[in-house]
Amino acid sequence: MAAPAVTGPLLKLNNGVEMPALGFGTFANEGSKGETHKAVVHALNAGYRHLDCAWFYQNEEEVGSGIRDFLSQNPSVKRSDIFITTKVWNHLHEPEDVEWSLKDSLKKLQTPYVDVFLIHWPIASEKNADRTVKIGSDGKYVINKSLTENPEPTWRAMEKLYNEGLTRSIGLSNFTEKGIESLLKYATVKPSVNQIEIHPFLPQQPLIEYCLSKSIIPVAYSPLGSQDQVPGTGEKVSTNKDLIVIAEKNGWSLAQVLIAWGLKRGYSVLPKSSNESRIKGNAKLVALSDEDFEAVNNVAEGRWTRFVNMKDTFGYDVWPEESK
Ligand code: A2P
Repeated sequence: MAAPAVTGPLLKLNNGVEMPALGFGTFANEGSKGETHKAVVHALNAGYRHLDCAWFYQNEEEVGSGIRDFLSQNPSVKRSDIFITTKVWNHLHEPEDVEWSLKDSLKKLQTPYVDVFLIHWPIASEKNADRTVKIGSDGKYVINKSLTENPEPTWRAMEKLYNEGLTRSIGLSNFTEKGIESLLKYATVKPSVNQIEIHPFLPQQPLIEYCLSKSIIPVAYSPLGSQDQVPGTGEKVSTNKDLIVIAEKNGWSLAQVLIAWGLKRGYSVLPKSSNESRIKGNAKLVALSDEDFEAVNNVAEGRWTRFVNMKDTFGYDVWPEESK
């Protein structure tokens, strides 16, 4: 029996589309075959109604079959009750490739439209004739300099797909304030979201405030801190004593605290898991008291550790000022 929908607050995008604040991340690092399908079915059964996908994750067929199986077993739920995100990868930023990418994702996801389509990274790179990523002699992506510096043609292609109804909104991921500022100068359709890494070790307050001031909703990936360590100190979000105290005194998991913190800050959060009980547990939403909220803010205060930076793979750093 599927649980009732668990959406958290419904966040209204700048074109009126509503997005459930609780989303489910489908990126699977070393996902074995069938794992994403199972995780998506568990997530929908647990009540999640927002699925975060990407062409790059190479598992959209499994997301699609998971949605199809869930919908066929739960006729009271419709496709339109589920908010689906997908993204275009770096080597597909040329306008005709943007269109190809979305259509390829739609085919795999078995849906005629997605709810938001994002530029995955503010980096355009070259492709091979068979639409694979072109890798240079240095082993890194071959950057398309002009389309990286001026993504207007890419954004125009996104706008076209929006106007054609293949996506209900369009947005960004991993964009900086500077990148958004220049895109807003020519955007006819404004980006509705910016999906970025956010957790107490990377609280992102300035970028969150900037996005909200432009009616762009932040969406947090790796809201659980990815279980990674802070270089140099070995600290982890998952073993932070102050965070654990908050979880234990309320009888919650640390993940529940981190999800609640993000929801209280006013954005969407995308926890991911391949484990059924953790998928279910993360969907048991709790509300942080003001005191506990402040206690998490205190942990976050002054911190700036990014766990997800693909600069060594891309050969291009989105945040060069952080490496100085
Ligand atoms: P698993 O799939 O074994 O549950 P993030 O979203 O910050 O990148 O974190 C994702 C990681 O957190 C996954 O590796 C996932 O592992 C783990 N995770 C998800 N939910 C929980 C939870 N409730 N408790 C502990 N670890 C979790």
